[in-house]
Amino acid sequence: MQIIITKSSQELAYCAAQHVRKVLEKNANAVLGLPTGTTPITLYKQLVHDYQNDKISFNGVTTFNLDEYVGLPPDHPQSYRSFMNRHLFDHIDIELSRTHVPSGTGTSTETAQTYEAQIKAADGIDLQILGIGRNGHIGFNEPSSSLGSRTRVKTLTTATLIDNKRFFHTNEFQPTMAITMGIATILESRELLLIASGSSKAIAVRAMIEGSISSSCPASALQQHAKVTIIVDQEAAALLSHPEYYQRVRSETEKLREQERVK
Ligand code: PGA
Repeated sequence: MQIIITKSSQELAYCAAQHVRKVLEKNANAVLGLPTGTTPITLYKQLVHDYQNDKISFNGVTTFNLDEYVGLPPDHPQSYRSFMNRHLFDHIDIELSRTHVPSGTGTSTETAQTYEAQIKAADGIDLQILGIGRNGHIGFNEPSSSLGSRTRVKTLTTATLIDNKRFFHTNEFQPTMAITMGIATILESRELLLIASGSSKAIAVRAMIEGSISSSCPASALQQHAKVTIIVDQEAAALLSHPEYYQRVRSETEKLREQERVK
């Protein structure tokens, strides 16, 4: 795992966008897995900015979102399809027909199987971007999710319902279930990039990086993947035991890469 600790959430967004840019420079037709939530908003802003300044194009890109609320149609303002259109897709040169968000209104088993088949038909995900919940969830794989799980419907924990209440008006229907890529689905991506910001994530970030692999912290499953980058700001990194080591790994890796470029 490469662990990058940034000074601010803005620098985090910049680093993450740079990572996405590098992936698209190598492969303009890359398949990206995308998250929703507050943390990715600044990343999406940066990507829109990069697109507007001709630094990146999404023309050949295909996307698969991690999850969707069960019971919300795509045009509902709180659906993750609306979120993605609002924060990213409406502002870049992506072909909308190549953007996929699981359906929150289909028959669950069939929808889940269709989603898995669509990912397979696209030859899998090149770069899966992830956020992390306070409880360690990735996508909506809540604690106790099987590490071998695939796309399916999950019941949301009380902690997640409380965290996401802010997106819904008082008395507005707030879904209690979501369809989400499974942990095994996520781990099949060729590369993973997880971003976390703020002190509320510090316990989950520590469990993910330095704890044992356990379904109690679904994000700890990332330890099993061969190509993972985790970008966290200082607040989210506050409880890590070895921040100095992670920083040194980063600077020494960069030095090595620079030497190889010069050769
Ligand atoms: P947040 O959500 O960015 O809104 O904190 C992250 C997540 O739950 O994956």
